[in-house]
Amino acid sequence: MPEVIVYGDAESLADATAARLLVRIGDVLAHRERADVVLTGGTVGISTLAAAAASPLARAIDWTSVHVWWGDERFVPAGDAERNEGQAQEALLAGLPLPEQNIHRMGASDAYASAEDAAGAYAAEIDAAGAPAWDVLMLGLGPDGHVASLFPGHQVYVESGPADASALAVHDSPKPPPTRVSLSLAAINRAREVWVVAAGEPKAEVVARCLRHDLELPGAAVSGLERTLWLIDAAAATRI
Ligand code: 6PG
Repeated sequence: MPEVIVYGDAESLADATAARLLVRIGDVLAHRERADVVLTGGTVGISTLAAAAASPLARAIDWTSVHVWWGDERFVPAGDAERNEGQAQEALLAGLPLPEQNIHRMGASDAYASAEDAAGAYAAEIDAAGAPAWDVLMLGLGPDGHVASLFPGHQVYVESGPADASALAVHDSPKPPPTRVSLSLAAINRAREVWVVAAGEPKAEVVARCLRHDLELPGAAVSGLERTLWLIDAAAATRI
């Protein structure tokens, strides 16, 4: 069963999620040699990273043992302001002593001929890292109930199954840009902890539907092996 934690507003949600993330990474590194964290784009996702950058807790972490991945990426050229990885770089990563080889970016459209090629390369990179059970996998939630680039009614979600590759190409995304790369549902659900972060009244209806396990919505289908957390603000909690 997912645990739901409600914060007063989007800012407290981002601050608390950042603190939770940094404490979780520290806890993992107390027991294991490395931590694997999957980041998300989106408003709350990026403000969480900015809050982490500002936190004194960030200084207590041995970043050389932390690996960073993404749940999805827009298939646009490297350097495009739409790239989730570029936004994360600016909000947090650039200020951390994180070795470049620990940053696992999904491929850009000026480096790969197709989203299929970029997804294949990312799946291979995940396999080469031993297909880690992600310690934390954060996901934003769209107002339509999408997570990563898995959209309701879209073939990539509707036909998802346990045998899917870890990363998949997504075409004709209902949210621009139309071409993306996404972790598959199977790869997402390999995480030890999945955290869905959502703020604002436009999310209230889909938050409630996901928590009722309405599997038409990709957000309802994600769960962590050890823990599934829904971190939301009061406005997104009004229909629960
Ligand atoms: C994308 C975004 C997207 C986002 C959600 C929630 O690739 O389009 O990463 O999946 O996480 O739409 O975004 P907001 O927090 O901005 O509503």
